[in-house]
Amino acid sequence: MKKEARSLISILDLSVEEINWLMDTADAIEADPEAFSEVCRHKQLATLFFEPSTRTRLSFESSMLSLGGSVLGFSSANSSSAAKGESVADTIEVVSNYVDIIAMRHPKEGAAYVASRHSTVPVINAGDGGHFHPTQTLADLLTIRRKKGRLNDLCIGICGDLKYGRTVHSLIEAMQRYEGISYVLISPEELRLPEYMRQKLEAEGASCEEEPDLEKAMPKLDVLYMTRIQKERYSDEAEYQRLKDSYILTEDKLRDAKPDLSILHPLPRVNEISVKVDEDERACYFYQTYCGKQMRMALIMYLLGLSEHKPEVSKSDTGEDEAVSLSGLCCANPACISTTEQELPQRFVPVDKEKGIYRCVYCDMEMKI
Ligand code: CP
Repeated sequence: MKKEARSLISILDLSVEEINWLMDTADAIEADPEAFSEVCRHKQLATLFFEPSTRTRLSFESSMLSLGGSVLGFSSANSSSAAKGESVADTIEVVSNYVDIIAMRHPKEGAAYVASRHSTVPVINAGDGGHFHPTQTLADLLTIRRKKGRLNDLCIGICGDLKYGRTVHSLIEAMQRYEGISYVLISPEELRLPEYMRQKLEAEGASCEEEPDLEKAMPKLDVLYMTRIQKERYSDEAEYQRLKDSYILTEDKLRDAKPDLSILHPLPRVNEISVKVDEDERACYFYQTYCGKQMRMALIMYLLGLSEHKPEVSKSDTGEDEAVSLSGLCCANPACISTTEQELPQRFVPVDKEKGIYRCVYCDMEMKI
């Protein structure tokens, strides 16, 4: 495997200083877009989307075009050779010969990481299963900074699908690096935040409470991050039908909310926010998509080394250097890329050797052996 370019797989691949620089650059782009209109001239972006998308794919493409570059790619697995059985690794070996940078979405967790290990150009994770979605987080952070004027001392309510919601996982990873953040986790029992993330928050001493009642949580929140119950993550239709309307934000439920609450949602929404709420000045979710484009523009420039601030080439911190193969042990997560791409070695990072706890290097699922 090789990796010679700086990629973005997890939001933790970016330092706080880098994120702050990206947000400042997004502000500069908003103030004077013309000044950036030729920055990526003669550069090409590939958007490889093995899973549906509106915002992420189109905002990446719009970003590259606004920077003076060009775009090629596909918007579904069926229109690529993945439909004939080609692996992610082979796809990336090929595409990285054609373009300068790749944005990839894939339904399998760890797919973007595998791609980055086979690419000679930067790979941006545009969503890998229920795992991570770091550029959505960049959009979220800029929205919060612009609306609240800060990224510290905030009470953030996260509501809906905290189990499969990759935007939730990336947002929590990011907010953990700022001071004075507290969380209210609002979900049905079946969609609680994964155990490994709850343990991590606990180990980091985060102020975190679980409150399944959205209205009870409302008065204390500075930010409410609503999420969709994701139909595409369910193999059991009945289970999806039972959970899909767990939370519906209406004007009525905002009665006891702070006057300066910011309501975010990564979108698409199905019916978890009433369209009536769109008229409330606290609704920020369409503004979030506007912020997303400027952050993606800043990120593309940065990873291509076309800004004054140059990225260092560094590995995504999955712990692969300390990973081991364990005889007969396979990742137990059916959504992990290693379960479908048979040539990938099964690799695990020791979390607690005494207790026999290991973490899959691709999807992060912890297993006890
Ligand atoms: N927020 C988000 O990822 O939207 P899309 O699925 O439309 O890209």
